[in-house]
Amino acid sequence: MRLTEVATAIEAFLETLLADARRSGEIARPPRLMAAMRHATLGGGKRLRPFLTIEAARLLGVAGEGALRTGAAVELLHGYSLVHDDLPSMDDDDLRRGRPTVHKAFDEATAILVGDALQTLAFEVLADSATDPDGAIRSDLVLGLARASGLGGMVGGQLLDLTAEGRYGAVSFGDTEIRQLQMMKTGAILAFSVEAGAILGRADAETRQRLVTYGWALGAAFQVADDILDREASSEAMGKRTGKDLEKGKATLVDLLGMDGARRECARLVATADEALGSFGPEADILRETVRFVVERQA
Ligand code: IPE
Ligand code: IPE
Ligand code: MG
Ligand code: MG
Ligand code: MG
Repeated sequence: MRLTEVATAIEAFLETLLADARRSGEIARPPRLMAAMRHATLGGGKRLRPFLTIEAARLLGVAGEGALRTGAAVELLHGYSLVHDDLPSMDDDDLRRGRPTVHKAFDEATAILVGDALQTLAFEVLADSATDPDGAIRSDLVLGLARASGLGGMVGGQLLDLTAEGRYGAVSFGDTEIRQLQMMKTGAILAFSVEAGAILGRADAETRQRLVTYGWALGAAFQVADDILDREASSEAMGKRTGKDLEKGKATLVDLLGMDGARRECARLVATADEALGSFGPEADILRETVRFVVERQA
C-alpha cells in the first residue's frame, strides 16, 4: 500500500516536471524529446528507488516535498540508465515496462538524447532550492548521486557488465568480480536512494552508515533477484525480455551459485539488511519489509 501511495505521488510529480510548458531558464522544450522522455518515465516502473528515499527520510522524521523531489531525481537517473541499457549497442531490447523501448517507439538518436536529458534533469531537481533550503545538503545529494551513477558506480558497472558477456575478449568473472560489477551497476544507486533519505534527515554519521549498509545489502539482493527472474520469469510478467543473461553467456551469481545457491544468497542478504536496521524499532518495519519484497517480487 505504501509503495502504491509513493508511486502515485512520484508519478504526479514527474508529470509536472515533464509537462509541455517550458520551465524557468529553458529556451524551449522540443515536443519530440518531451514525448520520448514522457514515454521513458511515466506510466510504469515499481518506483522502488524513490520509495527507499522517502521511507528512509520518513524514518528520520522528514516528510514532504524535499524527499519527493529527491526520490524523483533518483528515478529520473534510473530511467536514463534503462533507456541507454536497452539501446541496440547495449542490451538491444525491444520491451521495457510492458511497452516498446524508447529507441523502438522513437529512434536511437532520440533515445540517446532522452537519457542525456533525464540525467541532467535529475541533477537540476536536486540542485534546486525547493529540494532543501540548505545548500550544503543539496551539494551532498548532488555529490552522492554523481558518485553512485558515474564512472565508479552505475556507468562503470555497465561497462563491466558488457565485459562479463565476453564482448571485449575472454575474461574470467569469478565471485569477487561478479559481486563488484553488481554493486556498481545496480547496488550503488539503490544504496544512494537510502542514503539520500539519511542526508535529508540530517542523520548522524552512525545512523547514516547503518542505512547505507542496509542499502548495499538491499541493492545486492535486488540484482540477484533480477538475475533469478531473468532465468525464471516470463517476459509478460516482467514487462521486459527475459532469458537474456543465459543467451548472452553473461556471468551472474545464478551461474556461479546455481538457483538454490542464489536463493540462499538472497536470504543471507536479507539477514544482513535486517541486522543493519537492528537498532531501529518498529518504525523501520517498512524498510524491513521492503528488502523482503525485493527478493520475493515476481516482476
Ligand atoms: C531494472 O530495475 C534494472 C535493474 C537495475 C536490474 P527495476 O526492476 O527497478 O525496474 P523498474 O523501474 O521497476 O522498471
Ligand atoms: C541494468 O541491468 C542495470 C542498469 C540499467 C544500470 P540489466 O541489463 O540486467 O537490467 P534489465 O534486466 O535489462 O532490466
Ligand atoms: Mg544491461
Ligand atoms: Mg538490460
Ligand atoms: Mg537483468
